[in-house]
Amino acid sequence: MKKFYITTPIYYPSGNPHIGHCYTTVACDAIARYKRWQGYDVMFSTGTDEHGMKLEESARKAGKTPKEYVDEIAGRFIKLWGFMNISYDRFIRTTDEEHKKAVQRIFIKLHEKGLIYKGEYAGKYCVPDESFWTQSQLVDGKCPECGREVIDAKEEAYFMKMQPFAERIEKLLTETDFLQPAARVNEMVNNFIKPGLEDLCVSRTTFKWGIPVPFDPEHVVYVWIDALSNYITLLGYENDRHDDMGYWGGDGGYVMQLTAKDIVRFHSIIWPAILMALELPFPKRLYSHGWINLDGKKMSKSLGNVVDPFILGERYGVDAIRYQILSDMPFNGDFDFNNRLMLTRINTDLANDLGNLVSRTVAMVIKYFDGTLPVFERDDSEKLPYDDSYDNELINMSTALRKKVDGLIEVPQLAQALSEIFAVIGRANKYIDETTPWILAKDDANKPRLATVLYNLLETIRICSSLLAAFMPTTMPRVWEQIGVGEADTTYEKAGTWNTEYNYVVKKGDIIFPRFDIDKELSE
Ligand code: MSP
Repeated sequence: MKKFYITTPIYYPSGNPHIGHCYTTVACDAIARYKRWQGYDVMFSTGTDEHGMKLEESARKAGKTPKEYVDEIAGRFIKLWGFMNISYDRFIRTTDEEHKKAVQRIFIKLHEKGLIYKGEYAGKYCVPDESFWTQSQLVDGKCPECGREVIDAKEEAYFMKMQPFAERIEKLLTETDFLQPAARVNEMVNNFIKPGLEDLCVSRTTFKWGIPVPFDPEHVVYVWIDALSNYITLLGYENDRHDDMGYWGGDGGYVMQLTAKDIVRFHSIIWPAILMALELPFPKRLYSHGWINLDGKKMSKSLGNVVDPFILGERYGVDAIRYQILSDMPFNGDFDFNNRLMLTRINTDLANDLGNLVSRTVAMVIKYFDGTLPVFERDDSEKLPYDDSYDNELINMSTALRKKVDGLIEVPQLAQALSEIFAVIGRANKYIDETTPWILAKDDANKPRLATVLYNLLETIRICSSLLAAFMPTTMPRVWEQIGVGEADTTYEKAGTWNTEYNYVVKKGDIIFPRFDIDKELSE
């Protein structure tokens, strides 16, 4: 089996997780589930990034030790991922002993190679972002990342050389399709590589809550070497807990990483440099998606404008929320979260288009055939007494769908993948209007045709729901129960083919996606 490794960023446990964090994790979950379904041996990782000055400060404010503080909030992330049905394989915390040891070994390795040296850092420092900037990087004299004030700061620090890696990083960005969307490539090359890559500050003496530099314990390893290394220490790099570096691009498999655009620089420039320094291969894909905004501003803990995923999931269903955030995030942009948008998405796509297709089809099979669809032999030489061009269109669209979705998952373009699936669902609903089963049902002579129409609808539902299972893993099995298909009928192989003969026995079930009264919901 080919290996496939997918990673979320490791989140700062500095406040409650919100729907913005959910986006990356749910996107990774959908891809991980899809890849498992395709037959890959998948490793899916997530975790928490627990060191640094900001966390030290948050803990102090909360009257706790840093460890007590991060333990509590890491627990909330774990609880949220359970609630959101995230099928991660490993959860790493940067306070894990084996991670800390591995980071120290990585630091020593880079130092021994002459790639880390001691110097002095003087620059503009953004306290909330824990980032040093050069004068030329500032925007209107403020932090280019968050727009806040910066201060002059100076300290003794270790640096990692960046110049030896610049050329290969530029090639990685410009000559491969590593970084998606491609629009981010110019931004990285023009803003960071062309002006000359600056050496990276990799230690701090101004706070204690971090991994000590082993040969100079006044210093702690500054966040990025600590944080980025999680992707390999979790596999067992430089530690004995695991022995899974085979996932780092081994056996013809590949690595896919997702982050939002705020940390694309770290993942598309600094991380490849560290990997090169360690003589490890690059990941195959980095997708840097946009933000979930609220009123035009990035939803974030520091701004406090966050939406609680527990409240939404409990009220509207976890699968509905998963679907909404994935389908409303444009490939190359942000989206503004609001309740009306979310409810409209749920009502239109899930309750109306998909929900109705399933319930109408099942109801018709029960009404006209007592729930058991007969298989009629069709004589192809006979001239059909009806127009079956609609059938071919529906069958062609359904059987072409898996290949399209496969391609979109690779990019990954998840909103587009969902939209392709819902185009087929829309086509099936139109097919009901075109074939008018309720009119066919009036004449017994039409029974074979009526059975064919319903059969085509059930096959379309089978294919679409199989493809949707990675996105909505709880609800699709409920669809399968109603249309009477089992695990063997919803495999990856079967999702790419049209069954020519299947004994459908359907069963009436509860409504899959309830419709919400939007105005009532909004007022509540
Ligand atoms: N700890 C670093 C990442 C280290 S990875 C080696 C960090 N953590 S964070 O808690 O700030 O989370 C950043 C990530 O959370 C983003 O890259 C993105 O994946 C996700 N998001 C946080 N807020 C988000 C939105 N409002 N919208 C979309 N994604 C968001 O940076």
